[in-house]
Amino acid sequence: MSLARSLALVASLVFAASCGTKLPCDATSCPTGCCNPGSGRCELGNSAEFCGASGNTCVTCTGGQQCVAASCGSTNGGTGGGAAAAGGGAAAGGSASAGGSASAGGSATGGGAATATTFYKDVLPITQVSCASCHRTGGVAPFALETFAQARPMAAAIKSAVVARRMPPWMPDPNCGGPFVGDRQLTQAQIDTIARWADEGAPEGNPADAPAPPGPVGQLPRVDTTLTMAEAYTPSATNPDDYRCFLVDPALTANRFVTGYDIVPGVAAEVHHVIIYIVDRNAARAKDMGEAGPGWTCFGDSGLQSPGPIGAWAPGTGAVIYPAGTGIQLTASQGLAMQIHYNTSSTPRVPDQTAVRIMYSAPGVNLTQAYLLPLVANGFAIPPNATGYSYTDTFPNPTQFLPIKIYGLMPHMHTLGKRITIKGPGDTCLVDIPKWDFHWQQQYFRAQPFTVPANGELSMSCTWDNPTTRTVRWGEGTNDEMCFAYIYATP
Ligand code: HEC
Repeated sequence: MSLARSLALVASLVFAASCGTKLPCDATSCPTGCCNPGSGRCELGNSAEFCGASGNTCVTCTGGQQCVAASCGSTNGGTGGGAAAAGGGAAAGGSASAGGSASAGGSATGGGAATATTFYKDVLPITQVSCASCHRTGGVAPFALETFAQARPMAAAIKSAVVARRMPPWMPDPNCGGPFVGDRQLTQAQIDTIARWADEGAPEGNPADAPAPPGPVGQLPRVDTTLTMAEAYTPSATNPDDYRCFLVDPALTANRFVTGYDIVPGVAAEVHHVIIYIVDRNAARAKDMGEAGPGWTCFGDSGLQSPGPIGAWAPGTGAVIYPAGTGIQLTASQGLAMQIHYNTSSTPRVPDQTAVRIMYSAPGVNLTQAYLLPLVANGFAIPPNATGYSYTDTFPNPTQFLPIKIYGLMPHMHTLGKRITIKGPGDTCLVDIPKWDFHWQQQYFRAQPFTVPANGELSMSCTWDNPTTRTVRWGEGTNDEMCFAYIYATP
């Protein structure tokens, strides 16, 4: 089978629940200032109330600190004790070894002692890297964890979530296929630090100990274009699973490689998946004109010839940055068909306007052309009331004459899924999600590509529980199942 033929096998994904992102104030929209955690506005970032830069969330300087060069610092030692927050103000400003006298006599929660585990010194360096990408204003998590004021009341919950390794969410088994880029798992030492901080009463410590704010975490380093649906679309009133495609036009004048993307669902509650297919611009225009309303109906795929997608979004997917030196090529005559599965069975129908941010390689730079290859294991029939029902399928190297290099894997099942595993030749484990969770789906990129020889085979196994009284098969509907993956591969 040729690469193109195998690409034609693209199956669409069906997703049944969602937790999306909002368009945030970010490094692109607020490059020199900081984002107000309350209003989401871009602030200047030079006041004690709103301090920060690079589109990070503004920090409020406490303990009488000033905002200096976009971070809270103590400029004038004399005024140290202004606010109660920093505990033994004088002690902090004075000798660090204040073991006795002043601070000991003060409030016990002061955190003045140099050995105490404090928010600024010990916890913030972990949370700003491992939590704030989601737990920030405008992020996917329901609350922000960027400031002491936000984290302190959550201390017990934070401890429980990290000790049980529920947070940060990270699905792949560490013994299979890794190391993956952006592995979110905390080390045991980091977990212990957070637990100790919570146990010691969640002391604040000295804001001067805070680490420098990291660059944007979980976002594209650069956005070259943002393509938004031309008009808002309100999902079908009659069909709760509405599949609609919209032409978004990168309007390129020369070939470029897509090196990263970030799909931003307009109304996260009703957008259940997005796949962005490469299509011929004129063919897509004709398709669009042929149907009333924005876009066209496109159950299954884009309804047009396509060499494949540039990317996909499912619940849990953040910004995707393709491995260095690789990208997905777009030519000047190509447009993008944004296929959106709207599901309105349990949410009101609201006009949606989904967007995608795209990062390109520099003009004229030639990268290794990558493809998102689909693996489709669709021959299963899960019997009624089955528990732990498994199905395995094997796939020849799609080129059959060239080795391919696998960089990324995006496994996908629906909500009955329990486990999904992809292996290479010789049973080499490539990715294993031992506790499938529909809400956390993403592409996992290997630090080093895995080469499948020309005659090599891949296999994919899926396991489900079927609590229903019907046989469940492959299908697009929310109540159907899938055993599917996209593989990001280059020749
Ligand atoms: C990739 C996004 C993401 C990251 C990273 C992340 N969280 Fe969360 N977190 C969520 C979402 C979404 C929820 C709400 C839904 C849920 O519970 O799964 C949540 C819920 C929570 C909860 C409440 C529910 C529970 O399971 O206890 C706590 C506490 C929490 N997170 C702490 C953290 C901490 C601490 C970190 C960093 C060490 C972190 N999270 C990293 C997305 C994230």
